[in-house]
Amino acid sequence: MRAIVLAVLTVATVCRAATPTLRFAWKEVDYTWDTPADKENAIKDGTFVPAHNLPLGLARWKNKLFVTVPKWKNGVASSLNYIDVDGAQDQLLKPYPSWKDNLIPDTAKELPSNSSIVSVFRVFIDDCDRLWVMDSGLADILGSPNQITGPSLAIFDLNTDELIHRYYFKVEDMKEDSFFANVVVDVDKNSCDNAFAYIPDLGAYSVVVYSLKQDDSWRIAHHYFHFDPLAGSYNVGGIEFHWTDGVFGLALSEPREDGYRTMFFHAFSSTKEFCVSTELLRNYTRLDKEEAFHDFKLLGDKGPQTQTSASFYDPKTKVLFYSQVNRNGVGCWNTEKPFTTENNALVFSDPKFEFPNDLKVDNEGTLWFLVDKLPRFIYKGLDSSEVNYGIYSINTSEAVAGTVCA
Ligand SMILES: *[C@@H]1O[C@H](CO)[C@@H](O)[C@H](O)[C@H]1NC(C)=O
Ligand SMILES: *[C@@H]1O[C@H](CO)[C@@H](O)[C@H](O)[C@H]1NC(C)=O
Ligand SMILES: *[C@@H]1O[C@H](CO)[C@@H](O)[C@H](O)[C@H]1NC(C)=O
Repeated sequence: MRAIVLAVLTVATVCRAATPTLRFAWKEVDYTWDTPADKENAIKDGTFVPAHNLPLGLARWKNKLFVTVPKWKNGVASSLNYIDVDGAQDQLLKPYPSWKDNLIPDTAKELPSNSSIVSVFRVFIDDCDRLWVMDSGLADILGSPNQITGPSLAIFDLNTDELIHRYYFKVEDMKEDSFFANVVVDVDKNSCDNAFAYIPDLGAYSVVVYSLKQDDSWRIAHHYFHFDPLAGSYNVGGIEFHWTDGVFGLALSEPREDGYRTMFFHAFSSTKEFCVSTELLRNYTRLDKEEAFHDFKLLGDKGPQTQTSASFYDPKTKVLFYSQVNRNGVGCWNTEKPFTTENNALVFSDPKFEFPNDLKVDNEGTLWFLVDKLPRFIYKGLDSSEVNYGIYSINTSEAVAGTVCA
């Protein structure tokens, strides 16, 4: 009897599509305070309001899993943090590179130092063991917004945890309503100094390019960076809301024969996907803008309700993975197939994946994604007696096995 039951279970397991493993989960996040008194004082003076600390972005490097906590509301104790990949499921967040660099009051007037971090949505780890941090410089976004410093990129050496460089964006890189919350980095590990970072401006519909070698930046505008007015409505966790966010998700292919990568991109409030060669992004200022207009290409439409916050290209499977915020899940497209609605699959979907905010594939071929109930956090507040934030992982080949993305 028992053997039969086991046999049935085995067959069922083999046929079932792979499901992501829950790696980390929190009701509320807390940090590795130096002393219990530090935490008590921070709570007392409002530097730390536990319910306002919502994890949002992630990236993995060796045993470190970086987790960002942007300053949406007041009382975010540390915006840039990491946890140990082999650590406990509900472990405390460790401020990076240090406590001193992160514990900045919401009402601060300036940065204590160039390695200080105000508020980060997304980070990117490049092939040269560097962490690129897009610091918006803005505290308490939804309360009493305080632009402590202009938006900047902070670049850290992951082997030494030292700041390599800090770059403040120029006034010409920004417009009214600009908001820089994401960054992807284009570099070959044999020429680390020749790196380019691409930063989407979701509020003013552009992409800003930063060249490390030239230590300079420039702004690129295009119609395809705008949101689709018919795709700005969401319904997540029982909350209906309307967002006008433009270009946000950027993903880079491996280099093509000509040495340049393809950048896949989309506006947040859109169901379409586009692409452009990084050759054009890198050398835009010298190009004829009218001619360059046509080098931005529409790939296609993913179908209704397919708005995406984050996307990441996995060179191993040649699949573009992307979050599905309106469908509580993750979608995929195999870049070797035509971009059609049919060739875009929803690989997993479950109410427990409420608002998959960020996702990345690490260099071992593991897909990581973070879910955080962001709409409820913004519009209603979360219930701290239930699990609100989770980080899941899955092997990319196993994730797409048996789908049109394989
Ligand atoms: C911070 O970085 C800026 C830009 O690289 C530089 O001009 C400035 O001297 C740095 N400040 C400190 C205190 O290191
Ligand atoms: C930029 O484009 C111009 C015109 O096509 C070309 O002559 C030049 O070599 C390019 N520069 C770089 C750095 O690719
Ligand atoms: C992912 O799965 C594939 C196929 O089963 C396997 O070859 C590969 O080693 C796995 N990768 C990791 C990181 O476990």
